[in-house]
Amino acid sequence: MTERYRNFIGGKWVDARSKKTFQSLSPSNLDDVVGEFAASGPEDVEAAVQAAKKAFTTWRKTPAPKRAEYVYRAGELLRERKEEIAREMTREMGKVLKEARGDVQEGIDTAYHHAGEGRRLFGFTTPSELADKFAMAIRQPVGVAGLITPWNFPLAIPTWKMFPALVAGNTVILKPASDTPNVARLLVKVMEDAGIPPGVVNFVTGSGGEAGMPIVTHPDVRVISFTGSVEVGREINGAAARMMKRTCCELGGKNAIIVMDDADIDLLVDGVCWGAFGTTGQRCTATSRVIVHTKAHDEFMQKFTSRARGLKLGDGRDESVDVGPVVNAGRVKAIHEYVEIGKKEAKCVLGGSPATEGTLKKGAFYQPTIFDGVKPTHRIAKEEIFGPVLSVIACDSLENAIAIANDVEFGLSSSIYTSDITAAFRAIEDLETGIVYVNAPTIGAEAHLPFGGWKNTGNGHREGAHTIYDVFCEWKTVYVDYSGRLQRAQIDNVEHTKKKK
Ligand code: UN1
Repeated sequence: MTERYRNFIGGKWVDARSKKTFQSLSPSNLDDVVGEFAASGPEDVEAAVQAAKKAFTTWRKTPAPKRAEYVYRAGELLRERKEEIAREMTREMGKVLKEARGDVQEGIDTAYHHAGEGRRLFGFTTPSELADKFAMAIRQPVGVAGLITPWNFPLAIPTWKMFPALVAGNTVILKPASDTPNVARLLVKVMEDAGIPPGVVNFVTGSGGEAGMPIVTHPDVRVISFTGSVEVGREINGAAARMMKRTCCELGGKNAIIVMDDADIDLLVDGVCWGAFGTTGQRCTATSRVIVHTKAHDEFMQKFTSRARGLKLGDGRDESVDVGPVVNAGRVKAIHEYVEIGKKEAKCVLGGSPATEGTLKKGAFYQPTIFDGVKPTHRIAKEEIFGPVLSVIACDSLENAIAIANDVEFGLSSSIYTSDITAAFRAIEDLETGIVYVNAPTIGAEAHLPFGGWKNTGNGHREGAHTIYDVFCEWKTVYVDYSGRLQRAQIDNVEHTKKKK
């Protein structure tokens, strides 16, 4: 019997009003049904918004350090349940177990970071231009926040959004990707078990059209935080813009590693393998381009292809497996379409097709794929593929490499491998990305530093760190005049030039 799971609205687990459901499947074995989930619609979103609005009136009055204690307790519960959640994640989403543990760990780190933030949440004071007057700027919650999250970091990314939103005093509605509702449910269960008051955290599963967009366009949802594709990001941002609604969109990447001729090639091979094929290439930070100096090209290609050839594919719950499946059968098809385009543009030196040997045919697997001789203008060099596909592009100088790296619509993460500190700093200075790594691949951001990108990767916000509070807070500027008389700014404190006779 397939387990049936519900929405969480106003502190209760409830079915979708329509009673409709959808299934979440394991990508390692598409016959394995993880569970049935509520196929919610606008009426369920309405109920969640009403619950969140009601809870907001008391939650916003709860002191921030107290709000943060719930987040701290959630961190403790995630720590206790780390292995259980990681196993469920590998089953539902496919990433190998050690990475699934890392995903949960990122949620734990995020919990502790924001739990501490409850005792900071710094505004600032500054002198007034007038005597006997006090000036300060404080942060206040925005209201009900809609959190629409992806499947590739099914635990970490919901925590990036939910924990700071709660510490800041917002109440939330979480709508997870339809590929990973079960991991999100486990997080919501953690919140329930941490004692979060009813209505502060609401959980609605379902499709983007039926459950996601009604959250975006609901007039009482005041801020939207979304991670996903550029296409959906544009739709969300466009709809919200007409309502003057704030959005934080975290979108695609086409991240490059630049390799100079003085790079440590063995270190590089480890890095590219992890950056390109970790999480089966399904990170917005994944390394999808290597821009390699012609003098380093041959040694890199020879060592790298032989390493990649040895990667073991399979069910990520088997600890000897290196690369798990992609998230669903549709993604296998989408990745393969790009690979077919790539085969017309460049030389496929490894992989190039779905992986179907033995038990792999029961799941959604794609071979780690490498293209060599890619030109910066090729589609596989420009567009996000979101799978285990790497394009290798040759360059002849640092300037040339940086120009190629920047010549894409995205700007999330980048990296340079070199032993020349001048080259490293030049790259740090000139790469148009929100994150730059030196002698490390493009993945592996930490919870307490800003995360986000330039250009079409986002709309200017940063998750992680304290920077996320600019998304989940309104600023309120406060002036207190204790002079006992009317003091006019810009007038009473200025010696105006006397008119000359
Ligand atoms: C993402 O791919 O959407 O930096 C997030 C990293 C991870 C987060 C990735 N910590 O690769």
